[in-house]
Amino acid sequence: MISFFLKHIKGYVGMKNFINDQKKLNKFFSDSEEVLYIEDYLRFLKDFLNNFFDVDTMGFYFLNQDCNILFNSEKDDCSYFFNENISFFMKNIMESSKSIVVDDISIFKDDEFLSDFYGNGNKSMMAVPIINNGDFLGVISVFNYEESFYDSSYLYIFELFTNVIKYSLLNKFMAFKMVNTTMNGLIEILETRDLETGAHVKRVAHYSKIIAERLFDKGIINSKDLIKEIFWFAPLHDIGKIGISDSILLKPSRLTESEFEEIKKHVLIGYDLLKSIEKNMHPAIDMNFFKTAEDIILHHHENYDGSGYPNGLRGNDISISGRILAVADTFDALCSERPYKDSFSFEDSLKIIINERGKQFDPIIIGAFLDSIDEIKKIYSLYHDSDDCYSFSFDRK
Ligand SMILES: [Fe+2]
Ligand SMILES: [Fe+2]
Repeated sequence: MISFFLKHIKGYVGMKNFINDQKKLNKFFSDSEEVLYIEDYLRFLKDFLNNFFDVDTMGFYFLNQDCNILFNSEKDDCSYFFNENISFFMKNIMESSKSIVVDDISIFKDDEFLSDFYGNGNKSMMAVPIINNGDFLGVISVFNYEESFYDSSYLYIFELFTNVIKYSLLNKFMAFKMVNTTMNGLIEILETRDLETGAHVKRVAHYSKIIAERLFDKGIINSKDLIKEIFWFAPLHDIGKIGISDSILLKPSRLTESEFEEIKKHVLIGYDLLKSIEKNMHPAIDMNFFKTAEDIILHHHENYDGSGYPNGLRGNDISISGRILAVADTFDALCSERPYKDSFSFEDSLKIIINERGKQFDPIIIGAFLDSIDEIKKIYSLYHDSDDCYSFSFDRK
């Protein structure tokens, strides 16, 4: 009985704090205002909630039209899922629109959302749905290593607080959502014109992310934000194709010299397009946010030996994002059917890529690609389709 009281006293004190201690709340809002990425915001949130009840792990699942986001504070990172199925647990919360206290999460140990948290030793949880104007947007949850840790008094504070921070939390998603929506609109245009398929951009995004993660492990990339941005913006690499005529892009035979010169323009067309999007989004979004997108679009056809376009940049003068994209995009183009060629097998495409080490491609990127070949293969089979994109690469000419 005493331990029950002691365990929950923090909740009552927390409730009092929550109502009286505006300073803490204001500090939370001003600190979280500064951060650009949702991960950083959620880190602040976890620390803040710990003032009111013990939070060992925090989880956040955000449903987005095209991309669901899962944050796990233990991994200190967000995972992005394109069109993944919603988990059983999430579906239940979504349908009931009700908060829940779970004394023992082992009953959900196979759930896509909860399995990671269970695996990390969390035992009990509270989850609160985030609903805006009647729309279910996601779930925010806190976990404890102790079983049956939370009860209705904690849940009350958690719900109260979630309502207070809901709008600031959603605002943090605005940058992502705006970019995501714009990006998808543009990619849809490419798809409608048969110039790209969703499967191609997904594979390229995943390949690029895998390479970036390996480079992070090796200390060559030192920012997790960059990995995320590469994953987000990789699908935009060929967005400038919007400005190239179908008769050239879909030509079922070799291109003439002048046609190839025409096609090369897609890089600068894409870059200009992005610049105008950036201008229109200002000041809502920090301009640095687009730096990686610029690098991807502008550098994905630069070659390591200086023989690429549009600027003939060489070696490390080409951004790391551009060097990664060059490998990911070319590899996928090789594996895919084109109007003018059959697809190469996975192994043959690999041989061609390796052969270009130090010529078209940075040897360090090829190394990271080869180190991740099992993961690459997984993505290749997961998103492999028959009707593939009509992208082009060095093999086109
Ligand atoms: Fe391109
Ligand atoms: Fe492509």
